Amino acid sequence: MSSITVIGTQWGDEGKGKIVDWLSAQADIVVRFQGGHNAGHTLVVNGEVYKLNLLPSGIVRRGTLSIIGNGVVVNPWHLLEEIEKVRLQSVEVSPDNLLLSESACLILPPHWEVDQARERASGTGKIGTTGRGIGPAYEDKVARRAIRVCDLFDAKLLQERVAQLVKHHNIYLQAYGASEIKAEALFEDLQKLVPKLKPYVGQSWRVLGEAKNKRILFEGAQGVMLDIDHGTYPFVTSSNTIAANAFIGCGFVAENNHVLGVAKAYTTRVGSGPFPTRETGKAGDVMGERGAEFGTVTGRQRGCGWFDSVQMRQAVQVAGIQSLVLTKIDVLDAFENIPVCVAYELDNQRIDYLPAGQLSQASVKPIYEHLPGWQSVTQGIHNWSDMPAQAKAYVERLEQLAGVPISVISTSPEREDTILRFQQAAEDSIDMPDKFNIVTLAEARV
Ligand code: GDP
Ligand code: IMO
Ligand code: MG
Repeated sequence: MSSITVIGTQWGDEGKGKIVDWLSAQADIVVRFQGGHNAGHTLVVNGEVYKLNLLPSGIVRRGTLSIIGNGVVVNPWHLLEEIEKVRLQSVEVSPDNLLLSESACLILPPHWEVDQARERASGTGKIGTTGRGIGPAYEDKVARRAIRVCDLFDAKLLQERVAQLVKHHNIYLQAYGASEIKAEALFEDLQKLVPKLKPYVGQSWRVLGEAKNKRILFEGAQGVMLDIDHGTYPFVTSSNTIAANAFIGCGFVAENNHVLGVAKAYTTRVGSGPFPTRETGKAGDVMGERGAEFGTVTGRQRGCGWFDSVQMRQAVQVAGIQSLVLTKIDVLDAFENIPVCVAYELDNQRIDYLPAGQLSQASVKPIYEHLPGWQSVTQGIHNWSDMPAQAKAYVERLEQLAGVPISVISTSPEREDTILRFQQAAEDSIDMPDKFNIVTLAEARV
């Protein structure tokens, strides 16, 4: 058995969906382990665009089992709608290729109502959440108040738990001047879902435990800088996004796991919070336009800035990243010179890490090294040897700064516009002929 955990290394939207989809050609199982429908993962296959929130990106590949693990918070109405949406794109979804963990906690109306009411009340101090109830749902999980998928199948218990949950949240909603939730109506709505959801429900830990000699992809959502422990707190999401959470979020520990971090060739962020290398001038607009930087979930414009190697080195360390995928390098085709952040300045001192304090994080100033641009088209390139010399130098400098190899490079949204950096080495190897092992091979080069 071998596995790869694919996680975001920045503030989300690095292109995880594209990479998971590309790798899934070699995978038997794709597992989501945290987050919820705050995630927006875009796949482009022969011009057809798939936008996924809760469904693992493996759903698009026939013959691949997709698992929504216990660590995911699930809005059941959204899940059913998403299933219908991808079916309209001729994607087959059935209990044969989708499993929903019985232990996953549900996102229910009180969660998104509280999320949105809080954000409204916070004014300029708001987190800029997706408004989908992620934070309140995880709070309820930890407070042992959550309603889990398995609770749907016991009407008496469900009715009691819904009443308790609604009572708790109505106190907040009342205080915020928001409409209260009606427990009985919610209970009835949930009961209507039971026959539709039940066929998908099972035990992720058991199915994975029985998966002998299978290739598993763990698909992260968000990114390291949005991790509840390691991100730019409090401007983070409410789950651990790093690879260490993958096994907790599905109840299975994989041996020989490779942690693959997905990094944009520049940086973006949506929502509030510190962003040291943000470019508010014309260059930021150019990146935004070329990279189509609008959120998949909320449609909000993403702030754009330069690659931040300080943040990246830290992400590599805290998440145990073994190699990187560099995406959207084509977006930088337009620039004559490309700044890369190599250190920060804080209180007249040069520092090589992102401090934890909220004020310090907001105050660090990037120190840049300027690399020459290539000003030619990299979009759609499939071979490393076809890359312009300056683009190769850019990649090599980033990997030197990040401290791990860049094993894969993405040159467009399309599935196959992807460079396997160490392809030749892989082709020479009898034991490691496929994409799953290429990253391990890349690791061995360091
Ligand atoms: P995720 O949340 O990490 O899966 O990323 P998103 O799907 O939210 O955002 C990444 C966006 O960039 C999507 O619209 C992708 O189709 C697109 N994308 C991915 N890789 C590339 C690339 O190499 N070049 C370009 N131009 N776009 C890309
Ligand atoms: P993917 O998987 C980018 C951000 C929100 C907000 C913060 C908290 O597509 O990379 P939440 O609703 O989670 O409580 O919001 O996290 N955020 C994301 N930003 N990509 C995502 O997911 C995100 N999921 C949450 O914008 O700043
Ligand atoms: Mg996204």
